[in-house]
Amino acid sequence: MERFEIKEIKAREVLDCRGNPTVEVEVLTKAGVLGRASVPSGRSTGTHEAFELRDGGKRYHGKGVLKAVKNVNEIIAPALRGKDVTKQREIDELMIKLDGTENKSKLGANAIAGVSLAVAKTAANALRVPLYRYIGGINAHILPVPVLDLIEGGKLAATNLDFQEHQVMPVGARSFSDAIRMGLEVYHELGKILVEKYGKHSLNVGVEGGYTPPRMNDPREALELELKAIEELGYKNEFVLSLDCAATHLYNRHTGKYTLMGKEITREELIDFYEDLVSTYPIKSIEDPLEEEDFEGFAELTKTLNIQIVGDDLFVTNIRRLRKGIEMKAANALLLKVNQVGTLSEALDAAELAFRNGYGVQVSERSGQTEDTWLADLSVAINAGQIKTGVTRSERTAQYNQLFRIEEELGSRAKYAGKNFRQPF
Ligand code: PGA
Ligand code: ZN
Repeated sequence: MERFEIKEIKAREVLDCRGNPTVEVEVLTKAGVLGRASVPSGRSTGTHEAFELRDGGKRYHGKGVLKAVKNVNEIIAPALRGKDVTKQREIDELMIKLDGTENKSKLGANAIAGVSLAVAKTAANALRVPLYRYIGGINAHILPVPVLDLIEGGKLAATNLDFQEHQVMPVGARSFSDAIRMGLEVYHELGKILVEKYGKHSLNVGVEGGYTPPRMNDPREALELELKAIEELGYKNEFVLSLDCAATHLYNRHTGKYTLMGKEITREELIDFYEDLVSTYPIKSIEDPLEEEDFEGFAELTKTLNIQIVGDDLFVTNIRRLRKGIEMKAANALLLKVNQVGTLSEALDAAELAFRNGYGVQVSERSGQTEDTWLADLSVAINAGQIKTGVTRSERTAQYNQLFRIEEELGSRAKYAGKNFRQPF
């Protein structure tokens, strides 16, 4: 029992990959087992996400998280002392009660998520099993397709591109490690093509490690050049393309219009644009094609495009919004971000609900990521079949490196989701 009993919980302020403060939490059991987790942070956030508590004021331009740290150390820690780290759901529910608000605004979703994840990691350590197997059990064996953001735009990069992520998915690879190798070969090939066309500044990378070619403003150009790199390497049949449009951030609530390539367009014109894109390019997944309240529009696109439509700002990993989406047939995949909802248990509930209704699940980073690799473990734990965590930069490659280790440990039991990324069973 002492192995599992919480002796101490301690939070501190650390940095995310943008150099902004975020919460890190350590959980220590009476037998001296330690688990540590840090919480990522979004920039292109959805309105309905759980509340991220920031200090305000001058320090770190208001972005400090000392209040959230204090909430962990002074409110959550005393309440959880003596609890069993393997009772994840009980602990998560206790924190939800302790907070008492709809959106975790009293204690902060960043405080709660840090504890929730650190508790899970401590339990895995106490049981001496890897995190993916602790969360997922003996059936956790599917390695995800990496959704690689090779060219960045929107809120994540200093480019003129409106869409946030122009991604490639190596669905035809034989294994996860092969998928990453092919994906990075394409990334470097694309680098050469971009230098020729847009000059050396195009090799500057955005927050997820994708290129940021200056002056490029047409998403078709990005897709075109990604395809060129894929074809030059002879991988035409091994890759599909995908997008995160993050369309909420292109939408003007007052005019009801979207801005694309400098022009104001209607929702219908944007839908037509997607239809054209999908018939011209091998695009098999689009995230947030419309703004976060347009469930009807999502349903229409899901029906007409007949590809994966992922809800990020639409669902914000929230079971109520996902249920509404399922009822309305809006989107057919969930983007899973633990800190959007605040606890591991709630994120697992959302994933389960998605799968049981034939929805895909794409496990996702935040643009303000940390070096913690629980994300990689989570993707295998729930056999998600797809992971989005950028392309280069250490906080991104750390996730891929962890997936290499998991793949190696699973050995012949490991199965790469490949073309079945939407329902990898
Ligand atoms: P965020 O963006 O992490 O900044 O919210 C990533 C995304 O939109 O998927
Ligand atoms: Zn998104």
